[in-house]
Amino acid sequence: MAFPEQRLRRLRQNENLRRMVRETVLSVDDLIYPLFVQPGDKKKTEIGSMPGNYRFSVDELVEECNEIQKLGIPAVILFGIPSHKDKHGSEGIADEGIVQQAIRAIKEGVSGLVVITDVCFCEYTDHGHCGWVKDGEVDNDKTLEMLQKMAVSHARAGADIVAPSDMMDGRVSAIRSALDQHRFQNIPIMSYAAKFASTFYGPFRDAAGSSPQFGNRRSYQMDPANGDEALREVELDVEEGADIIIIKPAMAYMDLIWRTKQRFRMPIAAYNVSGEYSMVKAASQKGWIEEEKTVFELLTCLKRAGADLIITYFAKIAAKLLEDRRHG
Ligand code: PBG
Repeated sequence: MAFPEQRLRRLRQNENLRRMVRETVLSVDDLIYPLFVQPGDKKKTEIGSMPGNYRFSVDELVEECNEIQKLGIPAVILFGIPSHKDKHGSEGIADEGIVQQAIRAIKEGVSGLVVITDVCFCEYTDHGHCGWVKDGEVDNDKTLEMLQKMAVSHARAGADIVAPSDMMDGRVSAIRSALDQHRFQNIPIMSYAAKFASTFYGPFRDAAGSSPQFGNRRSYQMDPANGDEALREVELDVEEGADIIIIKPAMAYMDLIWRTKQRFRMPIAAYNVSGEYSMVKAASQKGWIEEEKTVFELLTCLKRAGADLIITYFAKIAAKLLEDRRHG
């Protein structure tokens, strides 16, 4: 049957009709808010390349987390800016490290908020690479031992979920066995399974001071041209025990959100990264696009593509928008 019997415009005539047939509904339950924590007291420093996002000292972070909790956002993911970076990123695994302190403070001061931690060394090493560097290369197997220590130290501090973002081979099974050995068998692993060597991480590296001091990350993060390989990465992480799969970045990689969801039918998180945030922010500050509508469209479309969860610097804006819509 076709036109004139079929007229798809019939169901688009007014907002209530459109609501009734809407296939994808964004919810505050889907959102994860990334947060940067820095040393000091009473510090809240705006990140130049990410207007509206800040580096918080631990005390300020707890206040921010209380606000996030009130907005109904279920989870945050933490990134640390250590007071001191060194060759092997030792602050990343210290019980008094900045993220470990932050986890304990949030767990004490904010009830119920899910605390996820990024497990990776680029924020803690003076060379800015994601692990153990030997002869100018990141040593995969040596880095696995470091990742195990970091994941266990986060869990010991009270993290609810650990999220390895280093892209070493075998890290999910290494982390799983280390957690299990320390009786953290119930701590889920949210794996950055398909993480691409993307230029969209620029503002994040500005925020965390984590740009590589030599070379680049292309020998461990994925080539943006490869889709089948991304599915192999996901498959390996699933076999190794990952509980949630991250695809990162999100917007230019929606095909992989879709393919991963179709093939693996497990919880998928899209990481709407810093550069994606900053592009929307900059264009809206110039008056070239409408920020709120753009955010809503973008996040809804990531869900339509198959994301169950969205890690996004827009989480607070989106939560407020969803709240306003509910109250008409
Ligand atoms: C750590 C890490 C990065 C991001 C998340 N975890 C930076 C990188 O890989 O260089 C980027 C997130 C963003 O751009 O918002 N490895």
